[in-house]
Amino acid sequence: MSYSYFTRIYAHRGGGTLAPENTVQALQVAHQMGFQGVEFDVMLTADDEPVLMHDAEFGRTVFGAGQMNDTRWADLQRKNAGAWFKDPRYAGARVPHLDHALSYCSARNMHMNVEIKPAPGRDARTAEVAARLCASYFREDADAAGMAVPLLSSFSAAALAAAAGVAPHLPRAQLWRELPADWAEQLAAAGCVAAHVRHDHLDEARCAAVKQAGYGLLAYTVNDPRRARELMAWGVDAICTDRLDLIGPRFR
Ligand code: G3P
Ligand code: MG
Repeated sequence: MSYSYFTRIYAHRGGGTLAPENTVQALQVAHQMGFQGVEFDVMLTADDEPVLMHDAEFGRTVFGAGQMNDTRWADLQRKNAGAWFKDPRYAGARVPHLDHALSYCSARNMHMNVEIKPAPGRDARTAEVAARLCASYFREDADAAGMAVPLLSSFSAAALAAAAGVAPHLPRAQLWRELPADWAEQLAAAGCVAAHVRHDHLDEARCAAVKQAGYGLLAYTVNDPRRARELMAWGVDAICTDRLDLIGPRFR
């Protein structure tokens, strides 16, 4: 259950506030700035293609009405995922396939925190498809060989169980907005290596308890450098941030 993060700082949704979220352009920004770790969200299209997407419903990052559960990959590719960001450099960004993100990051040995973000009713299927594709990039001995094996995380326990079924060798983390009273039992039962917890719910005692139990601990989404230092002093292994400009890849 003991887990070591590949890096302490993860760029949230690819590029935080510096690029449209969950796009290849966002991954490029993180890489160009020297980040060794990125977090992104994975959801399925209607025809079971895993793509980088946070919202099950369009309207915020993808213009127009519609839902991921009703949209096929071929139709999604025609949609714009960058114009909302209002920066001409990213005006043509598209919703990328997970395969594209895996290929981009693994070629640069960037660590991926792949958040399985199922659209309603699609927990197990999303996890199976995403975990299988992630596993196709990484041999069972990849971690021992020093490769940055993706860490699968999810708020959905059902998704994590399904991921374990198809790719038991890929590490898994349970996401929580608040640590439940039985967090240790849940982590053990699910075979998770880490807890990913919203930072404002964490205090010194909670951090110490998770670390003493031998689990990894990531705090999200931390955008204040002073808070990041406080969490690290409490034993948090890694943080996920939107503020790539304030909390850089070598932040201490
Ligand atoms: O994985 C940490 C964080 O990304 C979870 O929240 O809503 O930004 O996906 P959200
Ligand atoms: Mg996320």
